[in-house]
Amino acid sequence: MGRRLLAMYYFGVVSLFPEMFDAVTKYGVTRRACEKELIKVEAFNPRDYTLDKFGNVDAKPFGGGPGMLMQYQPLHDAIKVAREHAPSGTKVVCLSPQGKQLDHSLVTKFHSWGSMILIAGRYEGIDERVLQTEVDLEVSIGDYVLSGGELPAMCIIDAVSRLVPGVLGNIQNAYEDTFAQGLLHFPQYTRPEEINGLKVPEVLVSGNHEKIRQWRLQQALGRTYERRPDLLEGRELDKLERKLLKAYKEEHGLN
Ligand code: ADE
Repeated sequence: MGRRLLAMYYFGVVSLFPEMFDAVTKYGVTRRACEKELIKVEAFNPRDYTLDKFGNVDAKPFGGGPGMLMQYQPLHDAIKVAREHAPSGTKVVCLSPQGKQLDHSLVTKFHSWGSMILIAGRYEGIDERVLQTEVDLEVSIGDYVLSGGELPAMCIIDAVSRLVPGVLGNIQNAYEDTFAQGLLHFPQYTRPEEINGLKVPEVLVSGNHEKIRQWRLQQALGRTYERRPDLLEGRELDKLERKLLKAYKEEHGLN
């Protein structure tokens, strides 16, 4: 398949620190995705759009309280320009601890959009009217507070890019990853076969592919049961899976 036939995923980012996005555009898998034009990351800095004569983009909150808020006008104008650069109808996501929590199913939904604009706030937050008028969805990456939305925005860019065809050498990787299957990953080993008496599980060097597949499935089920039982709750296990998990529990003295 010719590369030109693959659609490019467009990420617009609105941020006071556009250079931070070098972390995705200049390194690793996402760098190669940019070079191959499988994704595009384009930043817009609200500071370039402020009409304030001192170049300010923040102000004190009405009603008092600590810290500063990002003002409506520079953000609104930066988002407007981002929309002009993005495919028409591109949705706008704002990173915030108040948002819907990011998980694999939300990542697949973003992938299906084909493009998105990410708003990374700084200071103590942004004027609510930006959220009311410009933002389709607020997204959180977890119940803790970061100093800005840039790192969460990069989490989304990285996770979505991995689903774009051609980004991973072997597309299977993305779908075999943790969470795509609703299970945690099985343990993995590479050379050497023994380190300070710690040996690679024998089955992995047996050459028996069916046994290896079953061992890996069993480890994935067992780890998920031990570490993230919530992931198993909504999941119907088939006969083999039930048998493998039962054996895992017995072996590990669980139950
Ligand atoms: N901005 C600050 N903290 C955040 C979080 N946990 N998720 C998304 N955006 C944020």
